[in-house]
Amino acid sequence: MAGRSGKVTVVGAGFYGSTTAQRLAEYDVFDTVVLTDIVEGKPEGLALDMNQSRPIEGFETRVVGATTTVDGGGYEATAGSDIVVITAGLPRKPGMSRMDLIETNARIVRGVAENLAIHSPEAVIIVVSNPLDEMTALTQLASGFPKQRVLGQAGMLDTARFTYFVAEALAVEVGTVRTLTLGSHGDTMVPVPSRCTVGGQPLSDLMPAERIDELVTRTRNGGAEVVALLKTGSAYYAPSAAAARMAKAVATDSGAIMPVCAWVDGEYGISGVYLGVEAEIGSVGVRRVVETDLTESELAGLREAAEAVRAKQADIQSL
Ligand code: NAI
Ligand code: 2OP
Repeated sequence: MAGRSGKVTVVGAGFYGSTTAQRLAEYDVFDTVVLTDIVEGKPEGLALDMNQSRPIEGFETRVVGATTTVDGGGYEATAGSDIVVITAGLPRKPGMSRMDLIETNARIVRGVAENLAIHSPEAVIIVVSNPLDEMTALTQLASGFPKQRVLGQAGMLDTARFTYFVAEALAVEVGTVRTLTLGSHGDTMVPVPSRCTVGGQPLSDLMPAERIDELVTRTRNGGAEVVALLKTGSAYYAPSAAAARMAKAVATDSGAIMPVCAWVDGEYGISGVYLGVEAEIGSVGVRRVVETDLTESELAGLREAAEAVRAKQADIQSL
């Protein structure tokens, strides 16, 4: 295949990180995928396993595993990455909110971001560790990178969940359904029914309002629903698909418009906060935030989310 190039690093070789690395390698557009973890041998073992799948799946992207330490040992393997996906951190257990992870994951993510910034000063960083909006803000702070080069993954996943629930409820193909979620990756998530269509028809023409409300609630609780079933750990197939697609959009400078956690500076009358919005993604990271028409109550929900996230993002400065 022509045009295979670039280096992408995935930090954290747990469920989210390893599935993301595998998806990225299978795209066959990168020269190298690096997978790291602090558990000795785990990233090397997974990389070896993924490389052995290359003859079967037919991709040439090399996967490199590297054990790192919290004080920066082993980060040479990540040097010169064009894109980094940060998945390091604990997932939640049943009954826990994403916010219960904030202190532990802040310590982990701060250290990771500082080490990455030393070795890959030009990278675009995609954060997935939870609580997502706060960890994205912390990564920008700790890396010192321009805000457009740090973004978070949540909206792609929450939107995919909403789309799947609508498709399942109407027994139609997922490809015919368009949905959108904005706001935070948490209690103040803002699913946007006014932007939902099925085969180009407004969702409100096809489903009673109460049924749409049920799907909105299920979307808000989409992560917890999986956690409750798994009993240990959280979702990773849909989450890794989301992060990998974002990384591919950066790598190919695609200009795709995606729901992501991005720095908002004036859009929707909201300023100075990382928040779930639609944005145009390219090799610079976020090219621009794209505003969409919202109903009054959706806009109020987005502003409420911004204030909730802003309060927490202020707290993380001291973590
Ligand atoms: P996991 O427990 O399977 O993997 C986490 C990995 O991070 C472990 O292998 C651990 O050793 C590693 N790690 C810890 N400290 C590290 C450090 N300093 N450097 C490198 N690696 C380190 O958890 P999983 O399922 O992979 O989830 C990872 C994170 O992603 C969690 O915080 C989870 O809540 C979050 N998540 C976010 C989603 C989103 O939509 N933004 C969706 C799903 C999960
Ligand atoms: C999810 O939404 C737990 O954030 C994780 O699946």
